[in-house]
Amino acid sequence: VFVLDLTERKRAEEARRELESAFAHMNRVSMMGELASSLAHEITQPIASARNNARAAQNFLNMQPPDLGEISEAVGCVVGDVDRAGEIIDRIREQIKKAPPRKERFDLNASINEVIVLARSTTIRNGVSVQTRLADGLLPVQGDRVQLQQVVLNLILNAVEAMSSVETGARELLICTEQENMGALVAVHDCGPGIDPTQLERVFEPFYTTKSSGTGLGLSICRSIIDAHGGRLWAEANKPRGALFQFTLPNAKNS
Ligand SMILES: Nc1ncnc2c1ncn2[C@@H]1O[C@H](COP(=O)(O)OP(=O)(O)OP(=O)(O)O)[C@@H](O)[C@H]1O
Ligand SMILES: [Mg+2]
Repeated sequence: VFVLDLTERKRAEEARRELESAFAHMNRVSMMGELASSLAHEITQPIASARNNARAAQNFLNMQPPDLGEISEAVGCVVGDVDRAGEIIDRIREQIKKAPPRKERFDLNASINEVIVLARSTTIRNGVSVQTRLADGLLPVQGDRVQLQQVVLNLILNAVEAMSSVETGARELLICTEQENMGALVAVHDCGPGIDPTQLERVFEPFYTTKSSGTGLGLSICRSIIDAHGGRLWAEANKPRGALFQFTLPNAKNS
């Protein structure tokens, strides 16, 4: 009886181990799938931007005489776009290696201004005017600058897409920062069609999309980045119309 009991236990143990490794594999596979989709989602913008800038350089080159100043500026932008794509790949690689997130101190307002420049060709093409109200004396925040810029970029692109879906009305995007007690608050206001009040949380679910060519990953990536930084990201109705996305970020420690 004792021997039988042992073999039974051994078998049960083996079965459990098999199951565990199957789960571990499943998790790995789904994690890889998520990483691959988030990489594809995040890298589309800098690639599209590099292409636009390279095209612009070609046009300036074909002018008689070629406009060397403009060519140099456009090529500089291509280099910036490609560097950015490289940085995004680095961050995703770090995520795979489970390296701890970067903790650099940086100026949030300056980082937001950089993103606005990055998104400029898209906002101009869609007739969107971008306004900012960035707080003076905003304390530095701490975290992964590139990832946080991805969050702001995703929110801007969503706002532009929302406003482009309606024909009438001004297309104004307003980005604000404020210093709160606990940290910085960033708010992205648009005047698009807004979000159904019952869907304000659902928009953050992975693969939730109302767009024919959307992946529905943008906001779920944003939320996991903000969560990892100890902040909060949420959506509400903008006044008088449109959507308002806000997130908080703890300030850098003084040490
Ligand atoms: N500013 C906004 N105004 C109105 N609806 C929005 C806004 N931002 C997001 N949404 C809604 O939330 C959904 C999910 O957004 P999310 O960024 O996660 O994915 P997506 O934009 O649909 O796809 P992708 O990001 O791959 O282009 C959108 O499809 C849209 O219905
Ligand atoms: Mg999106």
